[in-house]
Amino acid sequence: MTHVAAQNPARPQADSSKALYGGKGTRRITVRDIAAAKERGEKWPMLTAYDAMTASVFDQAGIPVLLVGDSAGNCHLGYESTVPVTLDEMIMLSSAVVRGTSRSLIVGDLPFGSYQEGPTQALRSATRLVKEAGVTAVKLEGGERSAHQIELLVQAGIPVMAHIGLTPQSVNAFGGYPVQGRGEEAAQQLRRDAKAVQDAGAFAVVLELVPAELAAEVTTALHVPTVGIGAGSGCDAQVLVWTDMAGMTDGRMPKFVRQYAALRESLGDAAKAFADDVVGGAYPAEEHSFH
Ligand code: KIV
Repeated sequence: MTHVAAQNPARPQADSSKALYGGKGTRRITVRDIAAAKERGEKWPMLTAYDAMTASVFDQAGIPVLLVGDSAGNCHLGYESTVPVTLDEMIMLSSAVVRGTSRSLIVGDLPFGSYQEGPTQALRSATRLVKEAGVTAVKLEGGERSAHQIELLVQAGIPVMAHIGLTPQSVNAFGGYPVQGRGEEAAQQLRRDAKAVQDAGAFAVVLELVPAELAAEVTTALHVPTVGIGAGSGCDAQVLVWTDMAGMTDGRMPKFVRQYAALRESLGDAAKAFADDVVGGAYPAEEHSFH
């Protein structure tokens, strides 16, 4: 942004105090702030969160948008996939994240089975997430196939983040988690999906596991921001599942993940050090005791 302004002195400098990440704002981020960031050409980060304490760490770190993803199924609740997650579980996790935060915009995921019947079911489920958990926005999966649901929620005053490309709730239909949008026919479908959710009123679109070139093209074509996960660097925003980002997840990581900490190892080491102290009599020490 600064680079462009330097080339064209007539263009006003972007006001960095308004930046979604690193800006000076202390009130909760709104969907209007998200739209303004796209106008400014600003990139921003999003993380998942599933509990109040972790969410408060990310809120204080300045992460502008937190997604209470149904990835909670795999990362928090011990399920094999996102498919079994229920709306009641999403409400419980989302309300904890809302309570733990004061600045981040909180997006609650509509779980599998809570919106596929049609717009009326989607509105009933989204209304519960907004009223009972206090989220600002909801996310649902699907492009053209979910456009009517998005339209009704937006008409009702509920901001919607769409999610296209690889949609994990359809893992059984996909037979796994393959990259989407490869080949001309699949790329055309992705373009149609992106246009459909924007036209339906979505304020942002997650692009999951999409070739980088296609994601960049869609990002340029849309006036709402794209949030990439495994979709290259051309998206407006990037999201990671927090347990992947912080090295808490066990097992092999997807190719698109960069780990910024080794929390699983640190936590395991802390647990072992505590256990060794208890067994060896080194904890509690005198300073931990009452007399
Ligand atoms: O549930 C989730 O965490 C998600 C993100 C990976 C986008 O949908």
